[in-house]
Amino acid sequence: MAFLLFSATASFAQTAEENYVPAPENLAARQEFQDNKFGIFLHWGIYSMPAQGEWYMTNANINRDEYAKLASGFYPSRFNAAEWVAAIKASGAKYICITSRHHDGFSMFKTRWSNYNIVDATPFKRDVLKELADECQKQGIKLHFYYSHIDWFRDDYPEGKTGHGTGRPQGHGNWESYYNFMNNQLTELLTNYGPVGAIWFDGAWDQPKDFDWQLPAQYELIHRLQPACLIGNNHHGTPHAGEDIQIFERDLPGENTAGYSAGQGISALPLETCETMNGMWGYKIEDQNYKSAETLIRYIVRAAGKNANLLMNIGPQPNGELPVTAVERLKEVGKWMATYGDTIYGTRGGDVPPQTWGVSTRKGKRLFIHILDLKGTELSFPLATKVVRAEQFHDRAPVPFTQDADNNLHLKLPQATTNPDYIVELILE
Ligand code: GLC
Repeated sequence: MAFLLFSATASFAQTAEENYVPAPENLAARQEFQDNKFGIFLHWGIYSMPAQGEWYMTNANINRDEYAKLASGFYPSRFNAAEWVAAIKASGAKYICITSRHHDGFSMFKTRWSNYNIVDATPFKRDVLKELADECQKQGIKLHFYYSHIDWFRDDYPEGKTGHGTGRPQGHGNWESYYNFMNNQLTELLTNYGPVGAIWFDGAWDQPKDFDWQLPAQYELIHRLQPACLIGNNHHGTPHAGEDIQIFERDLPGENTAGYSAGQGISALPLETCETMNGMWGYKIEDQNYKSAETLIRYIVRAAGKNANLLMNIGPQPNGELPVTAVERLKEVGKWMATYGDTIYGTRGGDVPPQTWGVSTRKGKRLFIHILDLKGTELSFPLATKVVRAEQFHDRAPVPFTQDADNNLHLKLPQATTNPDYIVELILE
C-alpha cells in the first residue's frame, strides 16, 4: 500500500523537489533546529555486539549469514529508553539522532518489509525506536533518524564500493526493488513514530558520482508525510535540492582536517557537524579515548561560532547501556550548558568571524565573545556596530572598552581568562 501511494506520485515529485519550496512548518523547524544547537548521535545496532565499530561487517569481510546470527543473540537487557533520554537531556542536548538502519542492513525498528529487524529477528522483540520515540515525546526532546542508503546485506542493493566480502553474488543489485524498500521503510518511520525531527541519510559516496539515487522523489515522500521533517544527507558535498540542513563529518564548516569535506562549500541552510565522543561511531570495546568535557564544550562553542550545530556521538553498549564515561561527559557538559547555554542556544554565528583566540555568537542585540585561547588580558578586533555595554558573562563585572574611529573594539579584561571558555557579553546599540 505504501509503495502504491509512493509510486503514484513519483514522477511529479522529480520536478516538485527541484523547485522545492519548504513548507512554513519546515522553515519553522529549521529555525528551531538552529536554536537547539546541540544534539546527541547514537550508533546502535547488532554491530555493537562484536564491539568493533559499525563497519566491522565489511572491514572484517564477514559473511552476511554468519553476521546475521548476531541478531538471534541480541538481547540488550539493560536498555531503558527513559534512562537514555534523561542522561542525554542532562547534557543540555536538544535532540537525539539514532541509527534506524545502518550499512549492515539491520533495522532497529519493526518493519514489515524485512524480517531482518529487532522485533522479528532478535529474542528482545522490542521496538527500541518506538520506545525511544515515546520517551522523547514525554521528556520533550526531538528525535531524528539516521537512515543508511547503503546496505551490505541485501541482494537488491546495487554493488557499491564497500561491502564486497559479505557473500553476495557479484554484480548484485536491483535498484527499483531496493529503492521501493527504502521508501517503504521511510514511510513506516514517518508514520509510526510520531513527529520525526529529521531524516539523516548516509552513504551516497558508496556509488559512482553519476549514480542516480532518485533523491527528489524520496525527499518529496518525506516532506509529504511530515512537512516539518528536516532532510540532511551526509554526502560530503553542498546540499542538493530538497535538503533542509547541511552536514559536515568530523569537521566544522570550512575546515577539512578529517578529509571528508574537500571542496564542500557552505550553504545558507542550517549547518550541522557530527563528531565522535571517543574515536568510533558504533561501540568499540577498546576505544576509551574519550575527549575531555573541556574539549567537548569548546567544540560546541566553536561550532556555534561557525553558525553550526554539533551532533556528538555515543556508541551504546550491546547490553543496552550508554558507556559510563559517556554518561559522565554528558553530565559535565550539561553543567556548563546550564550556566552558559544562554550564550549558545538561540544564537547565530556572531559579527566577529572565528579567530585564533575564539569565536562570537549573537542573539538580538547581545553579542557573546567566547575567548578560548588568549594570553594576557587585552583583546582587540574589528566591530562595526557600536557597543553600549560590556560585561563578563559569569559575574556581570563591567569590562572596560574603547571603540576607535577605525571600528576596532579594544577590551581590557578585568581578570585572566578561564577555561574552557571565558565569555564577554557585549550589548550592541
Ligand atoms: C560515516 C561512516 C558511518 C557513520 C557516519 C557518521 O559516513 O561511514 O559509519 O555512521 O560517518 O557520520
